[in-house]
Amino acid sequence: MLIRRPADIKSSEITDPLIYRQRREFIKGAAAISALAALPLRADAATKLSGVKKSTYTVDEVLTPFNDITTYNNFYEFGTDKASPAIQARNFVPRPWTVTVEGMVKRPMTFDIDDLMKWPLEERVYRLRCVEGWSMVIPWTGFPLNEILKRVEPTGSAKFVEFTSLNDPKRMPGQRSPVLDWPYVEGLRLDEAQHPLTLMVVGLYGEVLPNQNGAPLRLAVPWKYGFKSAKSIVRIRLVEKAPISSWMRATPNEYGFFSNVNPDVDHPRWSQSKERRIGEFLKRKTLPFNGYGAQVAAMYAGMDLRKFF
Ligand code: MTE
Repeated sequence: MLIRRPADIKSSEITDPLIYRQRREFIKGAAAISALAALPLRADAATKLSGVKKSTYTVDEVLTPFNDITTYNNFYEFGTDKASPAIQARNFVPRPWTVTVEGMVKRPMTFDIDDLMKWPLEERVYRLRCVEGWSMVIPWTGFPLNEILKRVEPTGSAKFVEFTSLNDPKRMPGQRSPVLDWPYVEGLRLDEAQHPLTLMVVGLYGEVLPNQNGAPLRLAVPWKYGFKSAKSIVRIRLVEKAPISSWMRATPNEYGFFSNVNPDVDHPRWSQSKERRIGEFLKRKTLPFNGYGAQVAAMYAGMDLRKFF
Protein backbone atom coordinates (compact mmCIF):
# COMPACT_ATOMS: atom_id res chain seq x y z
CA MET A 1 0.00 0.00 0.00
CA LEU A 2 3.08 2.25 0.07
CA ILE A 3 2.79 5.47 -1.86
CA ARG A 4 5.46 6.11 -4.45
CA ARG A 5 6.03 8.44 -7.37
CA PRO A 6 6.56 6.88 -10.85
CA ALA A 7 10.27 7.74 -10.68
CA ASP A 8 10.54 5.58 -7.57
CA ILE A 9 9.03 2.52 -9.18
CA LYS A 10 11.59 -0.24 -9.14
CA SER A 11 11.92 -3.39 -11.18
CA SER A 12 10.40 -5.12 -8.17
CA GLU A 13 7.00 -3.76 -9.28
CA ILE A 14 7.27 -5.82 -12.44
CA THR A 15 7.47 -9.00 -10.43
CA ASP A 16 4.22 -10.18 -8.90
CA PRO A 17 4.09 -8.06 -5.73
CA LEU A 18 3.42 -11.01 -3.44
CA ILE A 19 6.30 -13.07 -4.82
CA TYR A 20 8.55 -10.03 -4.70
CA ARG A 21 7.63 -9.31 -1.09
CA GLN A 22 8.02 -12.91 -0.04
CA ARG A 23 11.43 -12.97 -1.69
CA ARG A 24 12.45 -9.66 -0.12
CA GLU A 25 11.27 -10.75 3.27
CA PHE A 26 13.14 -14.01 2.86
CA ILE A 27 16.31 -12.16 1.92
CA LYS A 28 15.92 -9.93 4.97
CA GLY A 29 17.42 -12.97 6.43
CA ALA A 30 18.40 -14.62 9.57
CA ALA A 31 17.63 -11.79 11.98
CA ALA A 32 13.95 -11.48 11.15
CA ILE A 33 13.44 -15.20 10.74
CA SER A 34 15.05 -16.08 14.02
CA ALA A 35 13.12 -13.30 15.75
CA LEU A 36 9.91 -14.76 14.37
CA ALA A 37 10.93 -18.26 15.33
CA ALA A 38 11.41 -17.04 18.89
CA LEU A 39 7.87 -15.64 19.03
CA PRO A 40 5.29 -17.50 21.02
CA LEU A 41 3.04 -17.84 17.99
CA ARG A 42 0.33 -19.84 19.73
CA ALA A 43 -1.27 -18.32 22.73
CA ASP A 44 -1.33 -20.18 26.04
CA ALA A 45 -4.44 -21.57 27.70
CA ALA A 46 -5.07 -18.25 29.45
CA THR A 47 -5.78 -16.56 26.13
CA LYS A 48 -8.37 -19.09 24.90
CA LEU A 49 -11.80 -17.55 24.53
CA SER A 50 -14.63 -19.47 26.13
CA GLY A 51 -18.32 -19.74 25.33
CA VAL A 52 -17.83 -18.85 21.67
CA LYS A 53 -20.71 -19.97 19.44
CA LYS A 54 -20.17 -21.00 15.82
CA SER A 55 -22.01 -18.60 13.52
CA THR A 56 -23.90 -19.43 10.35
CA TYR A 57 -22.22 -16.39 8.76
CA THR A 58 -19.27 -18.49 7.82
CA VAL A 59 -17.61 -19.76 4.66
CA ASP A 60 -16.76 -23.41 4.20
CA GLU A 61 -13.24 -23.08 2.83
CA VAL A 62 -9.80 -24.26 3.85
CA LEU A 63 -8.56 -22.06 6.70
CA THR A 64 -5.33 -20.14 6.27
CA PRO A 65 -2.90 -21.44 8.90
CA PHE A 66 -2.57 -19.43 12.14
CA ASN A 67 1.10 -18.91 11.43
CA ASP A 68 0.41 -17.17 8.09
CA ILE A 69 -2.40 -15.02 9.48
CA THR A 70 -0.11 -13.80 12.26
CA THR A 71 3.16 -13.27 10.39
CA TYR A 72 2.00 -11.80 7.06
CA ASN A 73 0.32 -8.58 8.15
CA ASN A 74 -0.47 -5.04 7.14
CA PHE A 75 -0.33 -2.84 10.23
CA TYR A 76 1.62 0.30 9.41
CA GLU A 77 1.67 1.40 13.05
CA PHE A 78 4.16 -1.45 13.46
CA GLY A 79 6.10 -1.15 10.19
CA THR A 80 5.36 -1.23 6.51
CA ASP A 81 6.51 -4.70 5.54
CA LYS A 82 4.57 -7.87 6.19
CA ALA A 83 6.93 -9.41 8.74
CA SER A 84 7.32 -6.29 10.93
CA PRO A 85 4.00 -6.24 12.85
CA ALA A 86 4.60 -9.69 14.38
CA ILE A 87 7.99 -8.52 15.62
CA GLN A 88 7.34 -4.89 16.47
CA ALA A 89 3.95 -5.41 18.13
CA ARG A 90 5.26 -8.20 20.29
CA ASN A 91 5.51 -6.13 23.47
CA PHE A 92 2.47 -3.96 22.80
CA VAL A 93 0.07 -4.15 25.76
CA PRO A 94 -3.50 -3.50 24.60
CA ARG A 95 -4.71 -2.66 28.14
CA PRO A 96 -6.22 -0.63 29.65
CA TRP A 97 -8.40 -0.04 26.58
CA THR A 98 -11.66 1.72 25.96
CA VAL A 99 -13.58 2.51 22.82
CA THR A 100 -15.64 5.68 22.80
CA VAL A 101 -18.75 5.84 20.64
CA GLU A 102 -19.90 9.40 20.05
CA GLY A 103 -21.10 11.95 17.51
CA MET A 104 -24.65 11.80 16.19
CA VAL A 105 -26.02 9.40 18.77
CA LYS A 106 -28.65 9.74 21.47
CA ARG A 107 -26.56 7.94 24.09
CA PRO A 108 -22.78 8.41 23.68
CA MET A 109 -20.95 5.63 25.52
CA THR A 110 -17.47 4.42 26.37
CA PHE A 111 -16.96 0.66 26.49
CA ASP A 112 -14.15 -1.09 28.31
CA ILE A 113 -12.65 -3.93 26.29
CA ASP A 114 -12.87 -6.32 29.23
CA ASP A 115 -16.63 -5.73 29.35
CA LEU A 116 -16.97 -6.17 25.59
CA MET A 117 -15.14 -9.50 25.83
CA LYS A 118 -18.03 -10.76 28.00
CA TRP A 119 -20.63 -10.09 25.30
CA PRO A 120 -21.90 -13.16 23.43
CA LEU A 121 -19.11 -14.01 21.01
CA GLU A 122 -19.34 -15.85 17.70
CA GLU A 123 -16.77 -17.52 15.52
CA ARG A 124 -17.11 -16.63 11.86
CA VAL A 125 -14.87 -17.78 9.05
CA TYR A 126 -14.49 -14.87 6.60
CA ARG A 127 -12.50 -14.33 3.45
CA LEU A 128 -10.14 -11.37 3.60
CA ARG A 129 -9.03 -9.96 0.25
CA CYS A 130 -6.24 -7.38 0.20
CA VAL A 131 -6.05 -4.83 -2.62
CA GLU A 132 -2.45 -5.98 -3.12
CA GLY A 133 -3.78 -9.20 -4.64
CA TRP A 134 -3.59 -11.81 -1.87
CA SER A 135 -6.32 -13.35 0.21
CA MET A 136 -6.80 -15.48 3.33
CA VAL A 137 -9.60 -17.40 5.04
CA ILE A 138 -9.73 -16.39 8.69
CA PRO A 139 -11.70 -17.71 11.68
CA TRP A 140 -12.46 -14.50 13.59
CA THR A 141 -14.19 -14.27 16.95
CA GLY A 142 -16.33 -11.25 17.70
CA PHE A 143 -19.77 -9.70 17.76
CA PRO A 144 -21.69 -7.63 15.20
CA LEU A 145 -20.81 -3.93 15.26
CA ASN A 146 -24.55 -3.32 15.22
CA GLU A 147 -24.72 -4.52 18.84
CA ILE A 148 -22.77 -1.39 19.77
CA LEU A 149 -24.71 0.86 17.39
CA LYS A 150 -28.07 -0.28 18.79
CA ARG A 151 -27.00 0.71 22.29
CA VAL A 152 -25.89 4.26 21.37
CA GLU A 153 -28.93 4.89 19.12
CA PRO A 154 -27.80 6.85 16.04
CA THR A 155 -29.82 10.04 15.44
CA GLY A 156 -31.65 10.66 12.14
CA SER A 157 -28.76 12.83 10.90
CA ALA A 158 -26.14 10.09 11.26
CA LYS A 159 -25.27 8.74 7.80
CA PHE A 160 -21.72 7.42 8.19
CA VAL A 161 -19.51 5.83 10.82
CA GLU A 162 -15.87 6.81 11.32
CA PHE A 163 -13.38 4.46 12.98
CA THR A 164 -10.15 5.75 14.52
CA SER A 165 -7.24 3.57 15.57
CA LEU A 166 -4.94 4.27 18.50
CA ASN A 167 -2.50 7.14 18.07
CA ASP A 168 0.45 6.51 20.38
CA PRO A 169 3.88 6.76 18.74
CA LYS A 170 5.53 5.66 22.00
CA ARG A 171 3.82 2.29 21.78
CA MET A 172 3.45 2.11 18.00
CA PRO A 173 6.89 2.67 16.47
CA GLY A 174 5.59 2.92 12.89
CA GLN A 175 3.81 6.14 13.86
CA ARG A 176 7.18 7.83 14.34
CA SER A 177 7.44 7.97 10.56
CA PRO A 178 4.92 9.88 8.43
CA VAL A 179 4.00 7.01 6.06
CA LEU A 180 0.35 7.83 6.81
CA ASP A 181 -1.37 10.81 8.37
CA TRP A 182 -1.87 9.30 11.86
CA PRO A 183 -4.08 8.11 13.41
CA TYR A 184 -5.42 5.51 10.97
CA VAL A 185 -8.99 6.43 10.04
CA GLU A 186 -11.57 4.43 8.10
CA GLY A 187 -15.28 4.78 7.47
CA LEU A 188 -18.45 2.96 6.49
CA ARG A 189 -21.88 4.14 5.44
CA LEU A 190 -24.34 3.63 8.32
CA ASP A 191 -26.20 0.76 6.60
CA GLU A 192 -22.86 -0.99 5.92
CA ALA A 193 -21.89 -0.57 9.56
CA GLN A 194 -25.24 -1.99 10.67
CA HIS A 195 -25.04 -4.94 8.28
CA PRO A 196 -24.99 -8.28 10.16
CA LEU A 197 -21.73 -9.30 8.43
CA THR A 198 -19.83 -6.31 9.85
CA LEU A 199 -17.97 -7.78 12.79
CA MET A 200 -16.08 -6.28 15.74
CA VAL A 201 -13.28 -8.77 16.20
CA VAL A 202 -11.66 -9.67 19.53
CA GLY A 203 -10.21 -13.07 18.66
CA LEU A 204 -8.64 -15.32 16.08
CA TYR A 205 -8.61 -19.14 15.96
CA GLY A 206 -10.56 -19.15 19.25
CA GLU A 207 -7.88 -17.18 21.07
CA VAL A 208 -7.51 -13.55 22.11
CA LEU A 209 -6.64 -11.42 19.06
CA PRO A 210 -2.85 -11.26 18.55
CA ASN A 211 -1.40 -7.74 18.63
CA GLN A 212 -0.31 -7.83 14.99
CA ASN A 213 -3.88 -8.55 13.90
CA GLY A 214 -5.27 -5.45 15.61
CA ALA A 215 -5.61 -6.16 19.33
CA PRO A 216 -7.68 -5.69 21.25
CA LEU A 217 -10.50 -4.71 18.89
CA ARG A 218 -10.70 -4.45 15.10
CA LEU A 219 -13.23 -4.53 12.34
CA ALA A 220 -13.80 -7.27 9.77
CA VAL A 221 -15.85 -6.13 6.76
CA PRO A 222 -15.52 -9.14 4.49
CA TRP A 223 -16.91 -7.75 1.21
CA LYS A 224 -14.47 -4.84 1.17
CA TYR A 225 -10.71 -4.73 0.70
CA GLY A 226 -8.76 -5.49 3.86
CA PHE A 227 -7.77 -1.89 4.51
CA LYS A 228 -11.38 -1.03 5.42
CA SER A 229 -11.04 -3.28 8.47
CA ALA A 230 -9.38 -0.87 10.91
CA LYS A 231 -7.31 -2.33 13.73
CA SER A 232 -6.83 -1.31 17.39
CA ILE A 233 -9.91 0.93 17.36
CA VAL A 234 -10.34 3.52 20.13
CA ARG A 235 -13.10 5.72 18.73
CA ILE A 236 -16.26 5.21 16.69
CA ARG A 237 -18.00 8.39 15.60
CA LEU A 238 -21.38 8.71 13.90
CA VAL A 239 -21.25 11.55 11.39
CA GLU A 240 -23.27 13.16 8.64
CA LYS A 241 -20.65 13.24 5.88
CA ALA A 242 -18.44 10.48 4.51
CA PRO A 243 -15.20 10.43 6.55
CA ILE A 244 -11.91 10.82 4.68
CA SER A 245 -9.97 7.64 5.31
CA SER A 246 -6.21 7.54 5.81
CA TRP A 247 -5.73 5.87 2.42
CA MET A 248 -7.96 8.38 0.62
CA ARG A 249 -5.96 11.20 2.18
CA ALA A 250 -2.66 9.57 1.19
CA THR A 251 -3.56 8.73 -2.44
CA PRO A 252 -7.08 9.77 -3.44
CA ASN A 253 -6.75 8.37 -6.97
CA GLU A 254 -5.98 4.89 -5.62
CA TYR A 255 -8.44 4.47 -2.77
CA GLY A 256 -12.11 5.35 -2.89
CA PHE A 257 -14.48 5.49 0.06
CA PHE A 258 -16.49 2.37 -0.72
CA SER A 259 -13.64 0.00 -1.59
CA ASN A 260 -15.96 -2.91 -2.30
CA VAL A 261 -14.07 -5.79 -3.86
CA ASN A 262 -14.72 -5.19 -7.57
CA PRO A 263 -12.70 -7.39 -9.95
CA ASP A 264 -13.57 -5.03 -12.84
CA VAL A 265 -11.88 -1.96 -11.37
CA ASP A 266 -8.12 -2.29 -11.25
CA HIS A 267 -6.08 -0.48 -8.65
CA PRO A 268 -3.52 1.68 -10.53
CA ARG A 269 -0.74 -0.65 -9.36
CA TRP A 270 -2.45 -4.02 -8.95
CA SER A 271 -4.94 -5.87 -11.14
CA GLN A 272 -7.99 -6.85 -9.11
CA SER A 273 -9.27 -9.62 -11.40
CA LYS A 274 -7.36 -12.43 -9.66
CA GLU A 275 -5.89 -13.12 -6.28
CA ARG A 276 -3.40 -15.46 -4.69
CA ARG A 277 -4.80 -17.29 -1.70
CA ILE A 278 -1.92 -17.45 0.79
CA GLY A 279 -0.60 -21.01 0.71
CA GLU A 280 -1.78 -21.70 -2.86
CA PHE A 281 0.35 -21.57 -5.97
CA LEU A 282 -2.12 -20.77 -8.72
CA LYS A 283 -4.15 -17.59 -8.70
CA ARG A 284 -7.91 -17.75 -8.44
CA LYS A 285 -10.54 -15.41 -9.89
CA THR A 286 -11.62 -12.63 -7.57
CA LEU A 287 -15.34 -12.60 -6.92
CA PRO A 288 -17.46 -9.43 -6.84
CA PHE A 289 -17.94 -8.30 -3.23
CA ASN A 290 -15.36 -10.95 -2.36
CA GLY A 291 -18.07 -13.60 -2.77
CA TYR A 292 -20.56 -11.89 -0.41
CA GLY A 293 -22.74 -10.39 -3.19
CA ALA A 294 -25.86 -12.33 -2.19
CA GLN A 295 -25.76 -10.69 1.23
CA VAL A 296 -24.58 -7.17 0.39
CA ALA A 297 -25.15 -6.24 -3.28
CA ALA A 298 -28.63 -4.81 -2.58
CA MET A 299 -27.05 -2.02 -0.51
CA TYR A 300 -25.46 -0.68 -3.70
CA ALA A 301 -28.40 -1.08 -6.12
CA GLY A 302 -28.37 1.74 -8.65
CA MET A 303 -24.84 2.89 -7.77
CA ASP A 304 -22.12 2.95 -10.40
CA LEU A 305 -19.49 0.92 -8.59
CA ARG A 306 -16.81 1.98 -11.06
CA LYS A 307 -17.32 5.58 -10.06
CA PHE A 308 -17.96 4.84 -6.39
CA PHE A 309 -14.99 2.52 -6.03
N1 MTE B 1 -5.58 -0.85 10.55
C1 MTE B 1 -4.62 -0.03 11.02
N2 MTE B 1 -4.88 0.67 12.14
N3 MTE B 1 -3.43 0.12 10.40
C2 MTE B 1 -3.14 -0.54 9.23
O1 MTE B 1 -2.05 -0.36 8.68
N4 MTE B 1 -3.93 -2.11 7.52
C3 MTE B 1 -5.14 -2.55 6.82
C4 MTE B 1 -6.14 -3.21 7.75
N5 MTE B 1 -6.30 -2.44 8.97
C5 MTE B 1 -4.14 -1.41 8.70
C6 MTE B 1 -5.35 -1.57 9.42
C7 MTE B 1 -4.84 -3.44 5.71
S1 MTE B 1 -4.11 -2.72 4.35
C8 MTE B 1 -5.18 -4.77 5.71
S2 MTE B 1 -5.00 -5.73 4.33
C9 MTE B 1 -5.67 -5.42 6.94
O2 MTE B 1 -5.70 -4.53 8.06
C10 MTE B 1 -4.74 -6.58 7.26
O3 MTE B 1 -5.21 -7.30 8.38
P1 MTE B 1 -4.35 -8.56 8.88
O4 MTE B 1 -2.93 -8.11 9.04
O5 MTE B 1 -4.98 -8.98 10.16
O6 MTE B 1 -4.48 -9.60 7.80
